[in-house]
Amino acid sequence: MGPGDLKQALAPLPLHAHPDLLVGRESFDDAGVFRLSPDLALVQTVDFFAPIVDDPYTFGQIAAANALSDVYAMGGEPLTALSIVGFPSGKLPLEVLTEIVRGGQDKVHEAGAVLVGGHTIIDDELKFGLSITGRVHPDRMLTNAMARPGDILILTKPLGTGIVATAVKKGVAPAGAEEAMIESMRQLNGHAARVATESGVRAATDVTGFGLLGHASHIARASGVTLRIRRSVLPTLPHVLALLAAGITTGGADRNADYLAPLTHGWTSASDAERSLLVDPQTSGGLLLACPPGEVERYLSRVPGAVAIGEVVESGEHLLIVE
Ligand code: CO
Ligand code: CO
Repeated sequence: MGPGDLKQALAPLPLHAHPDLLVGRESFDDAGVFRLSPDLALVQTVDFFAPIVDDPYTFGQIAAANALSDVYAMGGEPLTALSIVGFPSGKLPLEVLTEIVRGGQDKVHEAGAVLVGGHTIIDDELKFGLSITGRVHPDRMLTNAMARPGDILILTKPLGTGIVATAVKKGVAPAGAEEAMIESMRQLNGHAARVATESGVRAATDVTGFGLLGHASHIARASGVTLRIRRSVLPTLPHVLALLAAGITTGGADRNADYLAPLTHGWTSASDAERSLLVDPQTSGGLLLACPPGEVERYLSRVPGAVAIGEVVESGEHLLIVE
């Protein structure tokens, strides 16, 4: 499915407006936000998936970092977590489950939140994830809808987790590629988000399954602007460029590309490798922020690995421009 398909499936369902529902599903945002009082709102989100690495503890850490990221992407501070597990109990020893949840719990703890429970079912395929509840001041939310022309686009983690994971599965990943990918995927987006809030950023999302361009399109559409992205400056994980040159691409990337090509000016002038990178599905990817221009330098100096990758311009013929 591409970024448009899920939206289409949910389109027939009525949107139930509520005076305290500050962010619902209409803006395709990372989490819902519900106001409890003038200065306090709940941020709620859920995410789970099948393993993308072999080590159970590491998988748990990555799944938790990925789920927590949707709270950070709203400018929120995570408070509590509930685990969601599908477990093939006949096929795998129970210790695997223990280690997955241990990894998740440690990451939740690192985020300053607490695992309060969860639910496990027997399932043919292993799945793990978390529902996270956080808090945010309603005036300091980061949403898809607040990008303004003149803002500078910043990406806080390198791209290419899909490409490296595919190479690992095929047994063609160079030494060190998987380790670098894991290090990036289990890194929390908390610091990047806190600095964003302090820098007056109002628009952000995290880059996950729809790739950089897919998530950029959500910001462009919700904000009523066009996002211009410079493909030559995109940060990549170690070995990703070599893997792209060798023709490695991720399964879901084609579906993203089909959806995004018509929305993107400059699509056909990008190389195959650049296009693959632009739509590569990410797991626990970085934040994509629209930063006020005067704050960019300070932001980049405070968040290691963050890179300015483009800018927000007035809404044009296309949602996205790559050049
Ligand atoms: Co997200
Ligand atoms: Co998500």
